[in-house]
Amino acid sequence: MTGVLTGNVAVVAAGAKNLGGLISTTLAEDGANILVHYNSDASADDADKTVAAARAAGVEAVKFQADLTDPANVARMFDTAYDAFGRVDIAVNTVGKVLRKPILDTTEDEYDAMFDINSKAAFFFLREAGRRLNEGGRIVTIVTSLLAAFTDGYATYAGAKSPVEHFTRAAAKEFADRGITVNSVAPGPMDTPFFYPQETPERVEFHKSQALGGRLTRIDDIAPLVEFLVSEGGWITGQTIFANGGYTTR
Ligand SMILES: NC(=O)c1ccc[n+]([C@@H]2O[C@H](COP(=O)([O-])OP(=O)(O)OC[C@H]3O[C@@H](n4cnc5c(N)ncnc54)[C@H](OP(=O)(O)O)[C@@H]3O)[C@@H](O)[C@H]2O)c1
Repeated sequence: MTGVLTGNVAVVAAGAKNLGGLISTTLAEDGANILVHYNSDASADDADKTVAAARAAGVEAVKFQADLTDPANVARMFDTAYDAFGRVDIAVNTVGKVLRKPILDTTEDEYDAMFDINSKAAFFFLREAGRRLNEGGRIVTIVTSLLAAFTDGYATYAGAKSPVEHFTRAAAKEFADRGITVNSVAPGPMDTPFFYPQETPERVEFHKSQALGGRLTRIDDIAPLVEFLVSEGGWITGQTIFANGGYTTR
C-alpha cells in the first residue's frame, strides 16, 4: 500500500526486530515516518538496521531505547517522536515476554516480570497513545492466540496478555470521540526466536499441525493485518483479531 500513510508518524514499540521490525519497515514503505523503539542493548544493531531500512524506503526514522515497564519511559518515547516529527498518528505495541512454566513452579519475580511487560507496559502505552495521538489515530497491541486456548503452562503469559483485551475495549470507547481506533491482534505460535525456547520439538510439531498448511504463523502473516488496521481499517475498533490459520478460535 505504497504511499497510503504518507505524512503520518508511527511509534512502533519493540519495533526493531522480528514482528515489530517487519511492522516498522512495512509502515515506512507505506510512507509513515517511524520511531523504532527497542529495549535491550542486544537489539541495538537490529534497531539500526530497521532505521536504515525505513530511510531507504524514503521516510524519516529515529531509534529510541527504553524499558517500557516504566510509564515515564513510555511518555519519553512519545515525546521523542513529537520532537522528531511534530505529530504522532499511529502507535503499535509489540512488546512481550513469554514463559511456559507450571503454576506450581512460578516465582513471584517471574509473575511480576510477566505482568509488568505484558500488562503494565501495554496499559501505559495505551494511555500515552491516547494522550498524544492526533484525531483519527490508530492504536494496535499485539497479544496472543493463547487467549482463545485451553492449555497448560502459559498461565502467566496468556494471563498477562488477557487484560489487554479489556484495556483495548475501554480505550476504544474512551478515544472514540476523537476518531481514534484501538485494536489487539492475536497471532498464533509464530516462527521467531521468541517462541522456540519455551517448547519441545514435539510440541512445535503439534502447534504446526493445528493450523492451515501445517505450519506456524509467520511475521508476514501478521504485518499486513496491522498495516490494514492502521490505514484503511478504520471501521474496526475495540476488537481482538485472531490471525493464526485456525489454530484457536472462540
Ligand atoms: N513468537 C510467538 O510465538 C508469538 C505468538 C503470539 C504473539 N506473540 C507476541 O508478538 C510480539 C512480538 O514477538 P516476536 O515473536 O516478534 O518476538 P520479540 O522480537 O522477542 O518481541 C518481544 C519484544 O519485546 C521487547 N521487550 C521485552 N521486554 C521489554 C521491556 N521491558 N520494555 C520494552 N520492550 C521489551 C523485546 O525487546 P528486547 O529483546 O530488546 O528486550 C522484544 O523486541 C510479542 O508481544 C509476543 O508476545 C509472539
